[in-house]
Amino acid sequence: MLPAILIILATLLTFGFWSNRNQTKIIRQHGFYRPPRLPNSCLFGIDRIALIFQAAGEGWPMELFLRHFTLWGSTLQHRFLGVEALGTIEPQNLQAILSTNFTHWSMGSREKVMGPLFGRGIFTQSGPSWKHLREASRAQLASRRCNECQIFEAPIERFLDSLSRTKGPIDIHPKILNLTLDITLSMLFEEDTTNDPVPQEFSDAFNDAQFILAKRLRLQEFYWIVNGRNLRRSCKIVREYIDKLVYQRGTKLDCDPILLRDQIINLLVAGRDTTASLITWTLFLLVRHPVELKKLQKELQESFPDDSRINRAKLRSCLYLQDVIKEVLRLYPPVPVNSRTAVRDTILPVGGGPDLSQPIFVSEGTNVAYSIYALHRRPDLYGMDAEIFRPERWAEAPIVSNETGYGEWGYLPFNGGPRKCLGMDLALTEAAYCIVKILRAFPGIKLPVGERVCVVGNEKQSVGLVIFSGDGCRVSLNDEE
Ligand code: HEM
Repeated sequence: MLPAILIILATLLTFGFWSNRNQTKIIRQHGFYRPPRLPNSCLFGIDRIALIFQAAGEGWPMELFLRHFTLWGSTLQHRFLGVEALGTIEPQNLQAILSTNFTHWSMGSREKVMGPLFGRGIFTQSGPSWKHLREASRAQLASRRCNECQIFEAPIERFLDSLSRTKGPIDIHPKILNLTLDITLSMLFEEDTTNDPVPQEFSDAFNDAQFILAKRLRLQEFYWIVNGRNLRRSCKIVREYIDKLVYQRGTKLDCDPILLRDQIINLLVAGRDTTASLITWTLFLLVRHPVELKKLQKELQESFPDDSRINRAKLRSCLYLQDVIKEVLRLYPPVPVNSRTAVRDTILPVGGGPDLSQPIFVSEGTNVAYSIYALHRRPDLYGMDAEIFRPERWAEAPIVSNETGYGEWGYLPFNGGPRKCLGMDLALTEAAYCIVKILRAFPGIKLPVGERVCVVGNEKQSVGLVIFSGDGCRVSLNDEE
């Protein structure tokens, strides 16, 4: 144990010393400013990692980041295991990272950190290999099948059927995860999974692997500390199941089979958990906001008076439904925190100087984390009620002027720039379709008696790669319960 601790300390010292020394030299030479710095109470910033793990364990990791940005400024510097890193929730900086200076940034150590599950799929790649995978994924997602609501029909009928057999209040969250898994698999394998239900062992392994990977992501360069048997076992189960599906369905192999499997796993993570997060948080918020729930139900009754086919155009024309979805994505962006690593010396347009409006220097190799969760709760962007669920805000004149570019870069549930989510349209249609079907099937849906209600953001949260409620989403499906 002692030798391991000594190796870690020595690595921290060398790593931290060199990266900080180079940065300071350039900042002095060019007269750049530094952003505010989060104070550390322990050597190497070990207190920061301890606090992040404590907050994650207790269910408030995103609120911790929000608190940091509120107290110290929208761009800040922190020492993380001996290395200087940056955090930002500044729209202009996000625009620079994700779009204007896109080529100055990469996914950093993602391939190493997330490799056990994601392999060389789209989420871990930068440069030409990413470009190639993006084109392939775009073609797959543009297929006619992915753009028609029929793809959701069989999975949602199975889901509603399983719910109709339940008695009393239920936690609908795991069922929604199974629903979006079912939909995404049907989409990826171009056929319905009815005859071959997804084994629970696979779902559990898929969840566990993502959770462990999220821990590795938090440790950044020290990800290798978390590399246990559980991770290897979970990834093996996931890989074997996907291989089996590829084999069983006779998927045409016109590329390296490992790359194909990696890519399927990447799309599965992209499509399954994010959309489940959106649908679950929508129900979580609606049962806690009965006025908004009634208003939505009225719109849906008028728009879909009978069982006529629900289609994409009709879903888009339900304006309140669209505003509800936008508001849920604002308060609970499924990917609440993300990061990029500078591949060359670059700058962020704002965050330094006395009024925090001056550019800051970012040296090659620096990691910048950005929290969409905290960005979406900025009162200067969304108003004094930024932390309140109020779908009506989307029908009002925006508090933030679009002329400054804040409009686009201040709302980023799907990321922006060349790496913007490729499944955005599909996800918005899928979520709207599922919400309409659930609310129509269970018009009496409500919060169960005795269920905890607290201010938005104060509920327990569970953050792996995607954000979920830490206590699930318990609902009563029928009025009489
Ligand atoms: C509400 C649902 C969804 C949300 C909020 C969401 C959000 C995001 C975000 C934030 C990213 C950027 C990740 C990064 O760069 O680090 C992303 C990328 C991506 N998403 Fe989605 N996503 C959703 C659903 C989907 C669906 C259903 C699919 C398709 C199955 C999909 C496919 C992708 C792909 C392929 C990328 C990678 C794009 C690239 O790196 O070029 N997403 N998504």
